[in-house]
Amino acid sequence: MAFKILGISGSLRSASSNTALLRACATIAPANIEFSIYDGLDKLPYFSPELDTAQSSAPLTVADLRQHVQAADAVIFSTPEYAFGIPGVLKNALDWLVSSGDFTHKPTAVISASPLATGGEKAHASLVQTLTVMTADIREEYKLIIPVVRTKINAEGTLTDAVLEKTLLTLITELATSKNASEDQY
Ligand SMILES: Cc1cc2nc3c(=O)[nH]c(=O)nc-3n(C[C@H](O)[C@H](O)[C@H](O)COP(=O)(O)O)c2cc1C
Repeated sequence: MAFKILGISGSLRSASSNTALLRACATIAPANIEFSIYDGLDKLPYFSPELDTAQSSAPLTVADLRQHVQAADAVIFSTPEYAFGIPGVLKNALDWLVSSGDFTHKPTAVISASPLATGGEKAHASLVQTLTVMTADIREEYKLIIPVVRTKINAEGTLTDAVLEKTLLTLITELATSKNASEDQY
């Protein structure tokens, strides 16, 4: 059976470099990996614990997000940094996923990409922190900070940097070999 990786971009921009990176991952992923990209972040309601109790079942878009995460063997986030943090839409989605427990032991890669030299390192650290408290399985080899991203992707959203392509392929391969390791561990 194919190993399923779900990509989640923190950017809603149609010309997003982070979404382009996930599309590049889908393109370079080996044939035994089924790579899909979730695109419903902007359809999620604002998180409220009152909408998410045993008495009131979660909104349909939230159930769909949870189903996507449950069905994935691993998840790759790629996010921009906004004002030194992660985008609000991404944090909103994560808040819906805290109580569902869908990230427990889920192999999860965290990428941040920015046109700046910092590569969005503060958003990266923040996203790692949030996913860690959600007990995602995040290892050093699943973390990637990409500075000056616009020199690595062209205007059409195609990856033009061979070193980055190799790094992404390594990350995908590491995630795909994580399954047995995490099953052994738990
Ligand atoms: C409101 C706003 C705040 C931003 N703040 C940061 C920031 O703190 N750090 C950073 O590296 N880039 C920042 N940027 C620039 C983004 O990194 C840049 O727009 C990036 O291309 C967004 O990612 P995307 O191409 O995937 O949409 C900001 C952009 C906007 C619109």
